[in-house]
Amino acid sequence: MTKTKTILSGIQPSGKLHIGNYFGAMRQHIRMQQEGDAFYFLANYHSLTSVNDGELLNQYTMDVVLDYLALGLDPGKCTFFAQSDVPQTTELAWILGCLTPVSLMEKGVAYKDKVANGLNPNIGLFTYPILQAADILIYHSDLVPVGEDQKQNIEIARDLAGKLNRSYDSELLVIPEDYILKSVATVPGIDGRKMSKSYGNTIDIFDEGKSLKKRVMSIQTDSTLLEDPKDPDSCNVFALIKLFAEDDKINEIAGKYRAGGFGYGHAKKELLGLINDYFAEARERRKKLEKDMDYVHDVLQEGGKKARERAETVMEPIRETTGLFRSFRYE
Ligand code: ADP
Ligand code: TRP
Repeated sequence: MTKTKTILSGIQPSGKLHIGNYFGAMRQHIRMQQEGDAFYFLANYHSLTSVNDGELLNQYTMDVVLDYLALGLDPGKCTFFAQSDVPQTTELAWILGCLTPVSLMEKGVAYKDKVANGLNPNIGLFTYPILQAADILIYHSDLVPVGEDQKQNIEIARDLAGKLNRSYDSELLVIPEDYILKSVATVPGIDGRKMSKSYGNTIDIFDEGKSLKKRVMSIQTDSTLLEDPKDPDSCNVFALIKLFAEDDKINEIAGKYRAGGFGYGHAKKELLGLINDYFAEARERRKKLEKDMDYVHDVLQEGGKKARERAETVMEPIRETTGLFRSFRYE
């Protein structure tokens, strides 16, 4: 019998989640929850690299938990937890850090990008990939579904797992397989650049009413006149419509673009309707969950316990092999 694969992925609670996060990461996480032994977590230690307000971090964390549960993550089918509930992660990160050449971190593209975008260049941000490697390796993960932008960090995790194994001549860690979600296109923001919290160009998953309408209506388009034919494939509004609509609807709207007499305002109204329909059930579920925070805390508590237990089975032999003295054991 083949071994059930361990699937692992995380998302940083560092702001409201947007439709780029949904189509680029969360939707796949939710779909994959039955394809193996899935572990999904809130990377709140990672968020500390950019969020230095305790109340805010806690609020972002709960927001992301509610978002995932409302969108269909089923804690009965996967292990869903907060990174900070697994202290073995930072323990392993330290050990891996002691095997990581500074030059490897200096090649980190995400660090350079983030600093260029105004983030504070702290050591946590610099060594972010080491903590991410520990996240992955501490559960003996086989598959790590992430977007193309995370490719380098996964490579670093594979590299560091190999280094630890070779340094101690022992199979302490599993080398995860590359699992980049190639089918996922980059979701454009309202200004046409990649949708990202750091560009302020997002459409948030759980935005609604007037505020959502305002965001959709402010998507940038060119100045082709209403009556003129338009090219759907060069339009940001159409790129978003394609994410939400079924094929028939997409073809119908593309036809209207090409025929002329269909303005960008009309396209935006179509998009608004599609977003509202697409997330209607999730919005209802989220409102119910908000009123049942005891349940939400129970989910995290149970997920944290399962994750810690798995992490401890991986960490214990590493402590022994690396010669780390311990006068106690976790129960
Ligand atoms: P942000 O750029 O808003 O800070 P993150 O870097 O926290 O987003 O991304 C979290 C996850 O969402 C990653 O797996 C990333 O690949 C995915 N993601 C973020 N923005 C987009 C986008 N515009 N299109 C597709 N996927 C995205
Ligand atoms: N760096 C990831 C992101 O920004 C979040 C993350 C942290 C992660 N640790 C992870 C993703 C481990 C996959 C596996 O999206």
